[in-house]
Amino acid sequence: MGYFTKDKIEQLSVHATPFYYYDLEVLNKTLLSINAAVKNKPFVVHYAIKANANKPILEQIKAQGFGIDCVSGNEIKRAIELGFSSSKIAFAGVGKTDEEINYGLDQDIFTFNVESLAELKIIDELATKKGKIVGIAIRLNPNVNAKTHHYITTGLEENKFGINTWELPEFFELFKTLQHIKLKGIHFHIGSQINDLTVFKSLCNRVNDFQQQFRERGIILDHINVGGGLGVNYESPDEETIPDFGAFFKVFDDFLELEPNQEVHFELGRSVVAQCGSLISRVLYIKEGIKTNFAILDAGMTELIRPALYQSYHKVENISQLGQPNNKKYDVVGPICESSDCFGKAIDLPETKRGDLMAIRSAGAYGEVMSSSYNLRDKAKSIYK
Ligand code: LLP
Repeated sequence: MGYFTKDKIEQLSVHATPFYYYDLEVLNKTLLSINAAVKNKPFVVHYAIKANANKPILEQIKAQGFGIDCVSGNEIKRAIELGFSSSKIAFAGVGKTDEEINYGLDQDIFTFNVESLAELKIIDELATKKGKIVGIAIRLNPNVNAKTHHYITTGLEENKFGINTWELPEFFELFKTLQHIKLKGIHFHIGSQINDLTVFKSLCNRVNDFQQQFRERGIILDHINVGGGLGVNYESPDEETIPDFGAFFKVFDDFLELEPNQEVHFELGRSVVAQCGSLISRVLYIKEGIKTNFAILDAGMTELIRPALYQSYHKVENISQLGQPNNKKYDVVGPICESSDCFGKAIDLPETKRGDLMAIRSAGAYGEVMSSSYNLRDKAKSIYK
């Protein structure tokens, strides 16, 4: 799939930079590929709205029948406002406020993914006040190493997420005393940008062990929620625009031991939206450095913080010089007064000039949603094609 054609670049060049550019055709193909991979399986996919909450993106996701995974009251609100059914909304997060819990209760969402025993007691208390029975899934910490950046690893005992194995007996005791809780499932999420599928196989094995502990107590769960985490190819977005969803879902199909009629729920964020978005920016200045020259862009860590925060790689392309040989090296940096405001060091690019359009690829997930107004910067616009 050639992402930037000459025509596309011409259309883009009329817009003031920096801006986010979303290719809705790529998004649609990605969604179709997910739906094809889960067809005839007891699999339900929730889109993790935290990755990108823009209206046109959510509308396409809704049109393909996905549910939503939220981590704040405002995310639930956004999903409902855009027409997602509350019966398809899961609500996770270690720090749900009473106000957010009450809102979720009022909306009769599908589940609260409960992250601690303390939270469970509060949810029961608030549900009791409203005279409601609330559906929950208990988030368990499986202690599986996701082998990804430590800032986006969530399934280890040292992480703040979920209930640890040693707390399970206490959970079973507590659960018996709670009148307004319906235990629907167990929930896991071990991390993000996971490209080694054997990690998900290890997760399945842990899930099977946990499920056995529930079975032994006569508890049969409606669903197992295995979270999200599938990675994308940041190095070669054109060679692998759509992640291998077939291989991903097959792992769960092969290794999870399900009860009859039990569903498996997924919460995919990055793999759904990363590749459909690019941050488009213009070169303001070329400045000579000691080892390499700097290409100073009009976009920076305020628009895309991932490289500064996680040292993450995003492919940078000079789309004004497509087809020219990459015979120069540049440190590609933003305008913000921080040394970490750098998209990449010693990047091979064609001879680059002031005014050239640069595309920072695979920025559809955790790009715009994590932007800030630091330095009192204006918010970048979003353009859809
Ligand atoms: N479910 C839960 C409970 C989560 O915490 C997350 C992401 C997801 C699902 C979706 O995971 P995904 O399929 O997108 O990997 N800002 C970081 C990523 C943080 C992910 C947080 N949780 C980044 O830019 O890499």
